Amino acid sequence: CSWLYSFNTLKGMNNMDKKIQDVVDVLKEYNQEHIINLLNKLEEPKKQELLEQINKIDFHQIMELYDNTKKEIEIKENVIESIPYYDKEKLTKEQKNEFDTIGEEIIKSGKYAVVTMAGGQGTRLGHTGPKGTFKLDVYGKGKYLFEILAENLKDANKKYNTIIPWYIMTSKENNDQTQEFLEKNNYFGYDKNSVMLFEQGELPLVDTEGKMLISKDLKIKEASDGNGGVFSSLRTSGMLADMKERGIKWVFIGGVDNAILKMADVTLLGMAIDKNVQIASKSVVKANPHERVGVFCKMNGHPKVIEYSELPEKMAEEIDENGELRYGESHIMCNLFTIEAIEKISKEPLIYHSAFKKNSYIDENGKEIVPDSPNSYKFEAFIFDSFELFDDIAILRGKREDDFAPVKNKEGVDSPKTAKELYEKYWERQNQK
Ligand code: UTP
Repeated sequence: CSWLYSFNTLKGMNNMDKKIQDVVDVLKEYNQEHIINLLNKLEEPKKQELLEQINKIDFHQIMELYDNTKKEIEIKENVIESIPYYDKEKLTKEQKNEFDTIGEEIIKSGKYAVVTMAGGQGTRLGHTGPKGTFKLDVYGKGKYLFEILAENLKDANKKYNTIIPWYIMTSKENNDQTQEFLEKNNYFGYDKNSVMLFEQGELPLVDTEGKMLISKDLKIKEASDGNGGVFSSLRTSGMLADMKERGIKWVFIGGVDNAILKMADVTLLGMAIDKNVQIASKSVVKANPHERVGVFCKMNGHPKVIEYSELPEKMAEEIDENGELRYGESHIMCNLFTIEAIEKISKEPLIYHSAFKKNSYIDENGKEIVPDSPNSYKFEAFIFDSFELFDDIAILRGKREDDFAPVKNKEGVDSPKTAKELYEKYWERQNQK
């Protein structure tokens, strides 16, 4: 018996040693020696936790993404054309009524759901806590971004005599805080049973030398994998199945940080159904040719959004026959999908882009470093890269002052100050109607 015991212990140890050696080999192959040093310093159970995390990471993929950060993006070989759109302002009364009636019917019959993507880090805003918990200083008392969204949906529920299921995508990092915040505020009066939180996936953060950052809890620091992660997360979390069970046909997916976002725009919905497309999007005209927003176009015959950084200057300034910017419809994170479209996208890999961001980390001496300028790459899939999987998209041009009040930066453009002004002016106009 004692012989068997020591044999098993030995066998166990050997397995453990082999497991560690395999991990060390992988870390060496991908120049992550600082993680080997960390492993050597850690005691159980922390060591085990780190080993498990390492085993789940695709180092080859991450290093490939890191290498891509050094390459120039080429779009020259692609055929790029402008994309048609409807201008909400220029629709005839009959056309608008027709779209609105079709859209209303879908919402009233309980076939409409909304997803809020709230898994971002909000690094530019610098607010501690999930972005939805940021209080916008409106009307003296202020309103939280989640509160503003809840109010928008509650208005729609009242108007269409329904309760729209509200799915909120969080990150592993901010899920608990988001849940606690919503509980504490009683879901801002929204029907609690119609609010579903789900977490998105994450990927390691990498510094300029290709080394993965270490987090405070002595693991590899990871961050959410971009708003494009919404499709696969909807499926793997079971939310897509939940939508199907509820008989949902159309899903609006929007961000958490637009203070005048309309999540139940019946004109947009009716237009999409009338045009017989699977995806639709609201745009606003670019403020100037060099505004830092992505614009809609058709690339090789498929709908696409080109990021401002990838749009050649000549194209950014090109004027069409009506004297407007040819590539002037900007993407404002205001998208509609059929349930089938979500299912399809959720099974396709979307490409990852890199964003150079500020991320704190633990250095080799165990000290926390809080950078004051960007220091690391975050890899993100973008929701709009899914458009290329379709032949067509319906675009509705809205109005900036009615549709777009982003809260992105701490100060200056797209900041709480500009969003507050836009929000208050918007509601002043509504109240005068
Ligand atoms: P942004 O790309 O503007 O990112 O997100 P952000 O995290 O809010 O801010 P920065 O860039 O770190 O300053 C647009 C929308 O997509 C969501 C955000 O929460 C926001 O609603 N998002 C972004 C996610 O849900 N997950 C992500 O991984 C990234």
